[in-house]
Amino acid sequence: MILVTGGAGFIGSNFIIGWLEKCSEPVINLDVLTYAGNLSNLATLAGDQRHLFFKGDIGDRSLVARLLSDHRPSAVVNFAAETHVDRSIRSPEEFVRTNVAGTLRLLEETHAFWRSLPESERNSFRFLHVSTDEVYGSLATDAPAFTEDASYAPNSPYAASKAASDHFVRAYHKTHGLPILITNCSNNYGPFQFPEKLIPLMILNAVGGKPLPLYGDGRHVRDWIYVADHCAAVQAVLEKGAPGETYNIGGNCEKTNIEVVSTICRILDELHPQSSVLPHMRLITYIKDRPGHDRRYAIDAAKIHRRLGWHPKEMFETGLRKTVKWYLENSRWVDQVVSGSYKEWVSLHYENGGVK
Ligand code: NAD
Ligand code: DAU
Repeated sequence: MILVTGGAGFIGSNFIIGWLEKCSEPVINLDVLTYAGNLSNLATLAGDQRHLFFKGDIGDRSLVARLLSDHRPSAVVNFAAETHVDRSIRSPEEFVRTNVAGTLRLLEETHAFWRSLPESERNSFRFLHVSTDEVYGSLATDAPAFTEDASYAPNSPYAASKAASDHFVRAYHKTHGLPILITNCSNNYGPFQFPEKLIPLMILNAVGGKPLPLYGDGRHVRDWIYVADHCAAVQAVLEKGAPGETYNIGGNCEKTNIEVVSTICRILDELHPQSSVLPHMRLITYIKDRPGHDRRYAIDAAKIHRRLGWHPKEMFETGLRKTVKWYLENSRWVDQVVSGSYKEWVSLHYENGGVK
């Protein structure tokens, strides 16, 4: 049995579904269900005894201690986090509360549990912390991609909070010998992503005939990976990674934002010709830039390729097409997600002076 945190979010839910397709080890899922957590992501697991959901906070030490001692997992995989850069600029404290203090409390309880284990179980136990390429900061146009040796230079409050959590995780290995693993991954896309993030936001706005808001000049570069490839990489690191090590994960797929959005528009012209505005490219609008907006991210994933034999399988064109189709075919999920607090976010962030 493994303990997954944040398993009702975008990547965590894809990870649990993929994990249970491939192996029989049950999963305990600890998620506090913030605006980004959604149990309907896991609807296909209804009635599956191998998935045990607990609503709760990674910072709730007594709950975490109880889950660990009752279920005795062989690993903790920490996806739980506040994850949206724009929200971290407006409200950074939540990011410190969950990403830094929550991760520290989870580490504390995991460490206490791990120390209580017999030696053979202690040796095989793992604490895997899922992190981001944003901790490395921004790359110049022609600079080489980030390796695991790149210096930390976080630029947003989100990135700073993830960097701090990475440092704590590393410190628990150096100080206490806890068998940790850290993964730093580039931008994910795929089913179940909350539509505050670029790709689902653009798909849903285009379908609704709304503006497609690109920050600044739209030429910022992100290195895209299909979520199932990220999940497979996390599983490979969990199974074969060396304790104390960091593994960078990326799709080797650098694109400017305008390239990504134009591709979405072309796919939608074909798959959704009944839209009110065609071609969808006519909806692209340039708005005020994100403060401190990192110009470019790119991941050098040679270490995980070489040492663990992991490679991404999905091509960007096919992955993006699958993703667009998924959002078109899952209108019930979309309708549920875009009601309530999502509307408040969109109105605060985009209609309050967002347009240039
Ligand atoms: P998400 O925002 O979709 O989901 C986060 C989940 O964590 C939600 O289900 C939420 O309810 C839960 N959560 C938040 N605070 C919690 C708390 N205190 N206790 C328990 N649960 C809590 O995020 P995501 O995009 O799935 O990202 C998952 C992880 O992967 C994060 O750690 C993120 O930093 C990292 N990551 C994301 C990307 C990406 O492109 N999305 C890339 C690299 C790394
Ligand atoms: O690199 C990994 C990170 O990727 C993860 O750690 C984060 O959790 C995840 O949110 C993501 O961060 P980004 O800031 O790169 O993702 P986002 O989808 O917010 O934005 C992608 C790019 O698109 C970025 O350059 C900003 C731009 N953008 C975004 C939005 C929401 C726009 O131009 N317009 C928008 O409305």
